[in-house]
Amino acid sequence: MNGEQEVDVRLTRVPGLLFGGDYNPEQWPEEVWAEDARLMAEAGVNMATVAVFSWSRLEPRPGEYDFAWLDRVLDLLHEHGIAVDLATATATPPPWLVREHPEVRPVDANGTHLDFGSRQGYCPSSPVFRAATARLARTMAERYADHPALAMWHIGNEYADHTLECFCEESARHFRTWLAARYGTVDGLNAAWGTSCWGQHYTDLDQVNPPRKAPGPINPAQVLDWRRFCSDALLECFEVERAVLREVTPDVPVTTNFMSILHGLDYWKWAAAEDIVSDDAYPDPADPTSHVGAALSYDLMRSLKDRPWLLLEQAPGAVSWREVNVPKPAGMMRLHSLQALAHGADGVMFFQWRQARYGPEKFHSALLPHGGVQSRGWQDTLRLGRDLEKLAETAGSRSKADVALVLDWDSWWGLEAPESMPSKRLELKRLLHTWYDRLHALGVAVDLAPPERDLSSYRVVIAPNLYLCTEDQAKNLRAYDGHLIVGPFSGVVDAADQVHPGGAPGPLRELLGLAVDEFWPLADETTQTVRHADGSAGTASVWAEWLRPEGATPIAHYEGGDLDGIPAITRHGRTTYVGCLLEDVRPVLDDVLTRAGVRPVADLPAPGADLPTGADVPAGVEACRREGVAADYLFLLNHGTTAAAVNLREPGTDLLTGRDLRGLIEIGPRDAVVLRTAHEGEK
Ligand code: GLA
Repeated sequence: MNGEQEVDVRLTRVPGLLFGGDYNPEQWPEEVWAEDARLMAEAGVNMATVAVFSWSRLEPRPGEYDFAWLDRVLDLLHEHGIAVDLATATATPPPWLVREHPEVRPVDANGTHLDFGSRQGYCPSSPVFRAATARLARTMAERYADHPALAMWHIGNEYADHTLECFCEESARHFRTWLAARYGTVDGLNAAWGTSCWGQHYTDLDQVNPPRKAPGPINPAQVLDWRRFCSDALLECFEVERAVLREVTPDVPVTTNFMSILHGLDYWKWAAAEDIVSDDAYPDPADPTSHVGAALSYDLMRSLKDRPWLLLEQAPGAVSWREVNVPKPAGMMRLHSLQALAHGADGVMFFQWRQARYGPEKFHSALLPHGGVQSRGWQDTLRLGRDLEKLAETAGSRSKADVALVLDWDSWWGLEAPESMPSKRLELKRLLHTWYDRLHALGVAVDLAPPERDLSSYRVVIAPNLYLCTEDQAKNLRAYDGHLIVGPFSGVVDAADQVHPGGAPGPLRELLGLAVDEFWPLADETTQTVRHADGSAGTASVWAEWLRPEGATPIAHYEGGDLDGIPAITRHGRTTYVGCLLEDVRPVLDDVLTRAGVRPVADLPAPGADLPTGADVPAGVEACRREGVAADYLFLLNHGTTAAAVNLREPGTDLLTGRDLRGLIEIGPRDAVVLRTAHEGEK
């Protein structure tokens, strides 16, 4: 099914921004539903996600359906002007399916069957499970195709949340079929996997198994293919249902909720298979920097299809699955919602509408808390609903970025192989954040991009790490004529996890103008001084390399220790290579941004200064711009706990308060302004 032409179906049935959440009416007596619908309407809710875990209620026995209750729910919501993101209800197989076909249960790497009693208890490769989901999806689609509340289909739920992989015999067979399609013959597989090592030469594809628990480290090429396979196997589950929905309801967009920047699934591939990208984000209120991680995920969500996306789930307050579930302090729920919009979302939804009284999520916050309309949470819900109405005109507006961060799942899987790497500490998210956090602090807009995408629209491209880099990807980077920054341990292996001839940086050698003589991971708790060409000192931790320039000019050297005098950072034409994990990337990044002429999304000169200084936006303030047809929208979000002074060079109207603003303004703690400004080009 991969490679099928993408169909352009958009969510047009709900105007403005979406607001609402997961609604689980089956957990409540029917008398409560009327109050739910009335309060949703009062809060301005216009969309509810329904039936996510309802399979056992909709099909209580094989082929025997009970849709009457769901009919009444959809009718009721529609009467109150609330559209429905209708789940196909396949996220959790019902007990009868598991009882009749125990083989649908997933099996872990140790061979243990995981039993019924939680959710997502299925083997992604199970033909029985897939057939049953297709049947239910068809029955649902045929029943609700013409229901006026149906606005969007929601397949599965957070794929890979609990079940990313299954090691059963069925999965093994499926894996072999996948390998046969990739390598053709057992000899092809032997060559790719380097099975001459440790006596693993296969004579038949049937001898190949998933990487089940083994006495020692498992062949890393096998593990890498397993990661690819697991992402593809779950995607097939999604596609089985999507095909049915497309056939029965071709005009209704299809989504599945992603889990921010998730290691397990290649979201570039996944996003191509759905109509609308949606995300679930749960930044930890206890972490004062968690909004930066959220911003990075949101930029990915926007970039996946280069279109507005939906925040389909977030918590109004505390979650129930951390060790300690800290609530959101006053203002944070609103601010984090506005943040998603700032990064291109066209809606903010929550888990969940009404707080549960039982089950594992009874302590998870909700838009309507246990305390009902008296609660602080409910007041926040009402306020957010009013704010979203004021921001309705921002729906559909787009974001433009001059900087792209390269992200590739194959490479990530290779880099974070569970065993046998030079260092387990070199993690992709940390590398991404070293660059992203500085860009975020500067208020520079960022897209994410896969390494094979046309990068020519960007002034600066940063590949924080491309451990796995194919010749084609390298070719694409060579063709890019902007300012490129490549991070450490890149160009090391090919698609089969085999070290490129001559070692790193393999196909990037000519572009970077250097060879890596030796990897030099740094022991825990040790650092290495880096001396920049301007004399300033920096620090490398986790990772360094012994570089041998072949045309590149060193712009920083290691100082002291075993690497004393060895180049740490080099420049070759417009390409910069950073051979270490540099804790503070400012000396490199700010210089490249200046050379490339990249500007922050807003000129916010320090109070008193006449001219834009290019200085950071005030600490804790996040600046994002969306461009509409008739106006631009500048979002300024103060994540700090004290008021922030911001000097606006462009006048505008704050959509949240209706005030016209210019010059020096103050943004309260955990408050925001959303400024409607003149459209680009009209300024
Ligand atoms: C995920 C799931 C929801 C719910 C929330 C709780 O996002 O999709 O069903 O469990 O977590 O935070």
